[in-house]
Amino acid sequence: MFNSLQQQPADKILALVQLYKEDTRENKIDLGVGVYKDASGQTPIMQSIKKAEHLLWETQETKSYVGLAGTPEFSEAMINLVLGKNFDQSLTASAATPGGTGAVRQAFELGKMANPNLRVFVSDPTWPNHLSILKYLGIPVEPYRYFDTMTRSVDFPAMMADLADANEGDIILLHGCCHNPTGANLKAPDWDAVIELLLKSGATPMIDIAYQGFGDGLEEDAAGIRKLVSSVPETIIAASCSKNFGIYRERTGLLTVVSHNKDARNLNQSTLAFLNRQNFSFPPDHGARLVTMVLSDEELKRNWMLELEAVRQSMLSLRTQLAAELENLSGSNRFGFLADHRGMFSRLGASSEQVNALREKHAVYMVGDSRLNIAGLNSNTVPVLAKAIVDCGI
Ligand code: LMR
Repeated sequence: MFNSLQQQPADKILALVQLYKEDTRENKIDLGVGVYKDASGQTPIMQSIKKAEHLLWETQETKSYVGLAGTPEFSEAMINLVLGKNFDQSLTASAATPGGTGAVRQAFELGKMANPNLRVFVSDPTWPNHLSILKYLGIPVEPYRYFDTMTRSVDFPAMMADLADANEGDIILLHGCCHNPTGANLKAPDWDAVIELLLKSGATPMIDIAYQGFGDGLEEDAAGIRKLVSSVPETIIAASCSKNFGIYRERTGLLTVVSHNKDARNLNQSTLAFLNRQNFSFPPDHGARLVTMVLSDEELKRNWMLELEAVRQSMLSLRTQLAAELENLSGSNRFGFLADHRGMFSRLGASSEQVNALREKHAVYMVGDSRLNIAGLNSNTVPVLAKAIVDCGI
């Protein structure tokens, strides 16, 4: 029966990881997959996570199942982190999921359960796996314009014009912060205008938040989503712990449904648990438990926040260095956007030929749409990349 299988398209980001591994050049630079790396090119385990892991090893007495939706403590700690400690948690239903991707997948399925004619509005561009999962689930995608390739910032009027087509029963997918793949983000007044639009249209917002703390700070990165969630009747949130806790392979995420109709909560909660049961039964616990421990112990939390802030600062400083180096070499400020973007990624605006030339001539690996992972750089490789960019005529 397997003869009938069709070759599926390779994930472009993961295919690049493989290509990079196979490259034997010593000076190669990996700016592909969204994994944080320190100046020595390592993806370290955060000290706060190590400490929690040690403590867990010493104190955990069973590996028996937890609840279908994970532990309530994890949900509570994560909602505090994303929505703030004053948020009324009687409005939320949540389930732990295998990573942020698990939450995204379940969110789309939830949308389809609620509305078989669901359409999902996604930014053009968006994280390619959003599109791939939607296609796999047979859910129609409505792209909305987002990125202005000339200014490398958000084309907000175009975005609003396209979102005007959304109606009740549709989902509008927004990136909570640190837009992937562009690095261009909504500003506070933009969030206000999106809220107005949602209230008018009745469409349901879904926020994918995978990089909280990587942009302007833990609180700042959540400001837009917090305002939105308290203003509109219902919101879906897919949160990832992979990047800000550095626990990629532990697959730790949370799907939350906020409804201002308190009567809806129990039904939402049991539907999320049902979806977990159908797809994988119990969610992974190890990473969720570490996150819970870190967020609920004052000292561990303080240390984690310091570590996260150091990560954020290092990316900001690489951004400014790269923009300055490129200004020097190109004699123009056309790369100034690199310092304005936030998060791990920026879209450079290079053609696919130029991206190929960067790889072939200079051993610089970035995603085909010219998304680069800033964290793949260090102060030695910034000038190398800047030279390569100018050499390739970008
Ligand atoms: C990325 O966009 O590179 C990350 O989110 C990793 C992934 O799974 O694609």
